[in-house]
Amino acid sequence: GERGTADRDLAGRHVVVSAGGTREPLDPVRFLGNRSSGKQGYALARTAAARGARVTLLSANAALPDPAGVDVVHVTTARELRDAVRQAAGTADAVVMAAAVADFRPAAYATGKIKKQEGKEPEPVALVRNPDILAELAADRARPGQLIVGFAAETDDILANGRAKLRRKGCDLLVVNEVGENKTFGAEESEAVVLAADGSETPVPYGRKENLADTVWDLVANRLG
Ligand code: CTP
Ligand code: CA
Repeated sequence: GERGTADRDLAGRHVVVSAGGTREPLDPVRFLGNRSSGKQGYALARTAAARGARVTLLSANAALPDPAGVDVVHVTTARELRDAVRQAAGTADAVVMAAAVADFRPAAYATGKIKKQEGKEPEPVALVRNPDILAELAADRARPGQLIVGFAAETDDILANGRAKLRRKGCDLLVVNEVGENKTFGAEESEAVVLAADGSETPVPYGRKENLADTVWDLVANRLG
């Protein structure tokens, strides 16, 4: 980032960051997944550590090396992520949900590989809803004053969609990215606006994910006081 290395404004704080994208198994060789690279969550973890925080990074299937000086917990599914987040949140001053959590998972898991059947069309895959980890964290805070931060990738009217989502989730901050072809997923750079429950809006110009991460930590540090 562009900040001074002496500014350890998160010293003494514990922050929890989720990153990557969950995978929901269908059988031993297949899963439902998404295109999240984990880069934004890892940038959040690195920048928080650089600012002096104790960092727990809950990594869902990100093909990235563990950042130095960060406690990394690897998870696969949304339900594993939920358990890991709840455990880590007990001591956290802030929880940032940068992971792309699968909204649905296959209703059934086949313990053996699903095979083609000669002359037959495949069975449809039934799906069920996953828990909304962010909404649960916001509704049932592990500590008074704990800050809960979400991310949202939106198209069309991204501000209106973001405002509605912030209210629906009950979180303190929502980082809204505009997505499209080659935008945000896997990219090194992104453009965003951070919406706050108090009504404030912080635009973050197109730039490196570290810069967006530092803006999120600025807003968090400010609110933690
Ligand atoms: N999230 C979560 N648990 C879920 C789904 C999403 O914790 N089951 C979190 C994500 O980590 C992110 C935020 O909620 O921080 C917003 O995710 P998003 O997919 O944009 O929200 P949804 O409510 O699933 O809305 P949509 O129907 O637009 O996908
Ligand atoms: Ca979703």
